[in-house]
Amino acid sequence: MRIVLLGPPGSGKGTQAALLVEQLGVPHISTGALLRDAAERGTELGLKAKALSDKGELVSDGDMAGILEERLSHDDVSNGYILDGYPRNLAQAETLTVLLERLEQPVEEAILIDVDADQIIKRIAKRAKEEGRADDTEETVRNRLRVYAEQTAPVADYYAERGLLTRVLGDGTVDEIFQRLLSILNLSTSSG
Ligand code: AP5
Ligand code: MG
Repeated sequence: MRIVLLGPPGSGKGTQAALLVEQLGVPHISTGALLRDAAERGTELGLKAKALSDKGELVSDGDMAGILEERLSHDDVSNGYILDGYPRNLAQAETLTVLLERLEQPVEEAILIDVDADQIIKRIAKRAKEEGRADDTEETVRNRLRVYAEQTAPVADYYAERGLLTRVLGDGTVDEIFQRLLSILNLSTSSG
C-alpha cells in the first residue's frame, strides 16, 4: 500500500497513520517527526528547521527534498509507505512524483482528512497541555492553518486531477475515522 495522508494540522494524520501501520506493516514516514528528531539531535538542518516550524512556516523545498530522498532510500519502502506531512505544496507534489517514479513506487491513494478549524484548535490546545510540542501555541497554530490553506490545500487538487484523491470526514472518534479509512482502502479490521 502506497498512501499519502493529507489534511490540516491536527486533523489526525499521525494518529491514523500509526493505526494503519499496524494493519499494513508499511513504514510511517512523517516529515514533521523526522524534522523534530533532527532538531532533538541538534543537527544543523534540524535547528534551522526548528526555527521555521516553531513559527508555523514551512521548511524550504530543497531541504525537504533531501530529507525525503534519504528516507525513501531505506529498504523498508519497498513494501509501501504511509506518507504524512509531505507534500505540502505543489512543488513538493511534483518532486514526490518524480522521486517515486524513479523508485517504481508511485502513490496509489491520497486521502484527505477533513476537519474544521474550531475542532483543530481544540485538539491542538489539548495536545499542547499534554505534550508541549513547540509549535502548538495558539499563535503558531493559527499561522499553520493559514499556511495550510494557502500552500497545502492545492495539493488535494493535484491528486484529484490524477484520480487518486479520496476525502474522509475527520469528525468523530479515532476509531470511527480509522474504520472509514479501512473501508476506503478496502480492508477490514483484523478482529473482523
Ligand atoms: P507536522 O508534524 O507535519 O505537523 P502538522 O501537519 O501541523 O500536523 P500535526 O502533526 O499537528 O497533526 P496531525 O494531523 O498529525 O494530527 P494528530 O494525529 O497529531 O509538521 C510540523 C512542522 O514541520 C510544519 O509546520 C513545518 O514547519 C515542518 N514541516 C513538516 N513537513 C514539512 C514539509 N513537507 N515541508 C515543509 N515543512 C515541513 O492529532 C492531533 C491531536 O488531536 C493529537 O493530540 C491527537 O491525539 C488528537 N486527535 C486525533 N484524532 C482525534 C479525534 N478523532 N478526536 C479527538 N482527538 C483526536
Ligand atoms: Mg502529525
